[in-house]
Amino acid sequence: MILVTGGAGYIGSHMAKWLHQAGYPVVVFDNLSTGKRSLARYGEWMEGDLNNPDDLTHCFERFPIRAVIHFAARSLVGESVRMPLLYYQNNVAGTLNLLHAMADAGVKHIIFSSTAAVYGNPQQLPIPETHPKQPINPYGRSKWMMEQLIEDAVSAMGLHAVSLRYFNAAGADPAGELGECHDPETHLIPLVLKAALGKRSAITIFGQDYPTPDGTPVRDYIHVWDLVAAHELALQALLAGELQGYQVFNLGTGKGYSVKEVIHTAQRLLESEGVSIPVQTGARRVGDPPVLVAKADQVQQVLGWMPRLSDLETMIQHAWCWEKAQR
Ligand SMILES: NC(=O)c1ccc[n+]([C@@H]2O[C@H](COP(=O)([O-])OP(=O)(O)OC[C@H]3O[C@@H](n4cnc5c(N)ncnc54)[C@H](O)[C@@H]3O)[C@@H](O)[C@H]2O)c1
Repeated sequence: MILVTGGAGYIGSHMAKWLHQAGYPVVVFDNLSTGKRSLARYGEWMEGDLNNPDDLTHCFERFPIRAVIHFAARSLVGESVRMPLLYYQNNVAGTLNLLHAMADAGVKHIIFSSTAAVYGNPQQLPIPETHPKQPINPYGRSKWMMEQLIEDAVSAMGLHAVSLRYFNAAGADPAGELGECHDPETHLIPLVLKAALGKRSAITIFGQDYPTPDGTPVRDYIHVWDLVAAHELALQALLAGELQGYQVFNLGTGKGYSVKEVIHTAQRLLESEGVSIPVQTGARRVGDPPVLVAKADQVQQVLGWMPRLSDLETMIQHAWCWEKAQR
């Protein structure tokens, strides 16, 4: 059985569905702090908290777990600046508890949700896995600590682990069953679509004087369905013994889209439905680098992964179907 921590969240719920469809038995473990029970539609369900070791012990006793895919974390940058201790407690101490529980149960395989935030401000573009790790906020630092914890556990405990550093996950389940519902929402595509539906007054472009072709920040978006597909490839390789020790891969496409490109593409796609998107402009936000784009060749070469749905139009269309259905 595959344990999906954080499986009631945006990405974890898609992972549980993907694994279920691929024939893996799944158990979702989540404390519903930011997740939704209604998103955990696939596999066995266990409500539990990484910060409660008894919940983890119970989970590993109850289910015959072969591998863990670890999504559970708090992941709002601004919140992490206001409440750093919460982030270190939940993310770092929670991961420590998970590693203890895995050791007690003899579980040797883990895939970890890391983030491009471990790199901080890019010193080279596209960003390779070997780029210095200089996270600039407690969220990014917590993720870098979690990676280091896992790497140390690999050497000491004979684990085999893969950290996947996601750039910007976007889009929704192509079948329309699952999608993004963060509260508060901080991701660009759902914010644009909420403005289109009148759930927000407008989408704000923060800064138009960045050193990018149209002056707005450029990010590397990856469709959530492509993202979870890469996890299955990593899982297969781990379970087959083809990936050993500790491995790290960026998960992005290597192609960036600017804030204006995202908004203009959404405007063009929604025009046919008679929907317009109110846009306003604001000052630059602190801590937003001009460009964050992955060097994404490693995951393609080693795992044979290819993005299939990560073009901007498909990501927006799938996210739009989901947002409309939430009305
Ligand atoms: N969404 C992105 O673009 C993105 C980018 C980079 C990295 N990530 C990472 O991917 C993972 C999933 O992100 P997401 O967007 O799906 O977030 P999410 O908030 O939708 O999901 C996280 C899930 O973890 C659960 N959780 C949190 N703390 C827990 C705890 N102590 N015990 C049990 N469950 C707990 C939450 O209830 C939630 O269901 C996170 O680790 C995040 O840092 C996401």
